[in-house]
Amino acid sequence: MTNPVPQTLVTIGEAERRAVDRVLRSGKLVQGEEVGAFENEFSKAVVADRSCVAVNSGTSALHLGLLAAGIGPGDEVIVPSFTYAGTANAVRLAGAKPVYCDIDEKTYCAAPESVRALIGPRTAAILVVHLFGHPADMDELVSLAEGTGIALFEDACQAHGATWRGRPVGSFGTFGAFSFYPTKNMTTGEGGMIVSGDRALVEKARLLRNQGARKAYDHEIVGFNNRMTETAAAIGRVQLQSLAGWNEQRRSIAKQYSAELTNVRVPSVGPNVEHVFHQYSVRVPDGVDRDQVREELRNRQVGTGAYYPVPCHRLAPLRAPVDLPVTDAVSSTMFALPIFPALGREDLLRVAREVNELTAPTG
Ligand SMILES: Cc1ncc(COP(=O)(O)O)c(C=O)c1O
Repeated sequence: MTNPVPQTLVTIGEAERRAVDRVLRSGKLVQGEEVGAFENEFSKAVVADRSCVAVNSGTSALHLGLLAAGIGPGDEVIVPSFTYAGTANAVRLAGAKPVYCDIDEKTYCAAPESVRALIGPRTAAILVVHLFGHPADMDELVSLAEGTGIALFEDACQAHGATWRGRPVGSFGTFGAFSFYPTKNMTTGEGGMIVSGDRALVEKARLLRNQGARKAYDHEIVGFNNRMTETAAAIGRVQLQSLAGWNEQRRSIAKQYSAELTNVRVPSVGPNVEHVFHQYSVRVPDGVDRDQVREELRNRQVGTGAYYPVPCHRLAPLRAPVDLPVTDAVSSTMFALPIFPALGREDLLRVAREVNELTAPTG
């Protein structure tokens, strides 16, 4: 009998249960001490002391970050199409237009030359995505933004702890956004974080999160209720303590996969990069049907994911008539193998063996 291997597994332990219990017993479920403490601890541990504003999802972090940065109707925001819909949804929710760029074939993140070609009179910002935990090319993208005077924002929803030349992602742009959805490298259940070094942006984001009020019933602007709960923050504080170790385990798993896999294209890691392998995504070789391989792996009790089989520019509500050859080629050939800190060597070797067998060249 072989063990089923899920694609992803959330790690929740006794410490998280105790933390939730502590909050429940306190009776203070919202706007207590936990959210502020989580913001401070995340700031120190993950984003080099940038200010943090905790919210109820990664999508809210992007949305409020965009609004606080002044993005709105009439603005264009350049964003990769090869990302979770939440990235482009946030741009649309802010009233702006997502303009889709293509991706780099190695990093799967925004290709700087594609971004450059899309800059026009309405371009207000570039929103890069550090996809699967690999940073986008920040040398090129930061200098492109600086050279053109266009704002740079970071969707770091999949990249807690990733670095570019030793500097953490989320600390480059005017703001960065993180998600704490259960499958992420750390979780709060649902949750997100806005990160910024711009004091005015941080103040605005705090107002937008809380119905436009700094103090109860003193409403300064129209806002949302996008607050993080105390129980979510308490879980996040515990998870944060394991993040660095879990990222190390993810890197070790990735290294072992890359040593074992013979037929698929494995992820590359750039020279200036600390990858955190939110996903370990591979590409099938020419002539191999990705969906059939996934189906057969499912029959063999190996869970896989496809991130993302339909890129944003082909999704009904976000559709745009653009030609993105690398995005299309990658989205039809890529799938993600099981990766989570508790994945054992034996299971990993079995997954690699099955993948090698199912993707072997024929003839
Ligand atoms: C790249 C990316 N952007 C945005 C989001 C949205 O985050 P959330 O699901 O927490 O709203 C996610 C996560 O799901 C994501 O992976």
